[in-house]
Amino acid sequence: MKIDIGIVGYGVVGNGTAKILEEKKELIKDKSGVEINLKKVFTRNWNKEFPFSLKEDQKAKSLEELLEDEDIKIIVELTGGIDFPYELLTKAIEKGKHIVTANKALLAEKGKDIFLKAEEKNIRIGFEAAVAGGIPIIRALREGLVANNIEKIYGILNGTTNYILTSMFKEGKDFQTALEEAKELGYAEADPTLDINGVDAGHKIAILASLSFGGFLNFSKIHIEGIENINLLDVELAKELGYTLKLLAIAKNQNGEAEVRVHPTFLPSDHPLAKVEGVFNAVMVEGDSVGETMFYGKGAGSLPTASAVVSDIVDIAKSISLGIGREIEITSMNWKHKDINLK
Ligand code: HSE
Repeated sequence: MKIDIGIVGYGVVGNGTAKILEEKKELIKDKSGVEINLKKVFTRNWNKEFPFSLKEDQKAKSLEELLEDEDIKIIVELTGGIDFPYELLTKAIEKGKHIVTANKALLAEKGKDIFLKAEEKNIRIGFEAAVAGGIPIIRALREGLVANNIEKIYGILNGTTNYILTSMFKEGKDFQTALEEAKELGYAEADPTLDINGVDAGHKIAILASLSFGGFLNFSKIHIEGIENINLLDVELAKELGYTLKLLAIAKNQNGEAEVRVHPTFLPSDHPLAKVEGVFNAVMVEGDSVGETMFYGKGAGSLPTASAVVSDIVDIAKSISLGIGREIEITSMNWKHKDINLK
């Protein structure tokens, strides 16, 4: 079966998603049984060079071209920010379109509202790409680890800051040089302040805490510290003492109360997370059945993130083609009706 989709936003991840969908169409069809047709892409300015070129008839001149097109069943939101995508997703839900988004800020800060709206219309929202780039951690928490009470989930969730810290530790680069490189490599946010000040990692751990502990939390109450004050002297000192410095995002659940925080942390150099370098992310999950697990992979960048976006597109397309709402479905899980108390 062929499923038409539309993408809104044609930046680093949008280009990667289009490239995978076009170049791996046959592979995806063989593996999943569905053909994904990228019918339209909308971005505000088509008058520049893009790493992946679309056909002229795929370039939409307005959002309405996607929203009013009844053939388009899935809207893929890859824009960033909060207000514009909130409005877009609200309209898409009203039009009965399923959603795939990589927007961690939107889900962490307005997720409850979006998920409740989606539930009313029986709309699915895929957000695998919102946390830890190419690592399928959302699917792992929703499905693979469903038999567990999650007691603790923590790790390195921002590729840009891990790239900067690794460059400072391994190559003695200064902060600004390493940040410029991370921007060029397409790792940083459009506003890299969100990487540096820990807010991006905060958004991601908020989403993981929601899934792990079963409820929404008040994002503004999370303790967040970034790496803006780390300098080469801190790095040298840590090295001398046998430590590495990492920006960790941590969520613990104790007696119905959650503790969620983001801050730079000294780790002994032989700790598994100390060995996670460059753009790589890692997530440690402690479940009461499975014990400790560790997930590792690229946390940012065009194709790793697009890999996660495409996995959601295919997953939703498969359920559309089967004509069912899946039983295990994020939009009908109980957690979105609950709130988590933060310490
Ligand atoms: N700026 C983010 C990071 C992109 O560096 O991790 C992936 O969410």
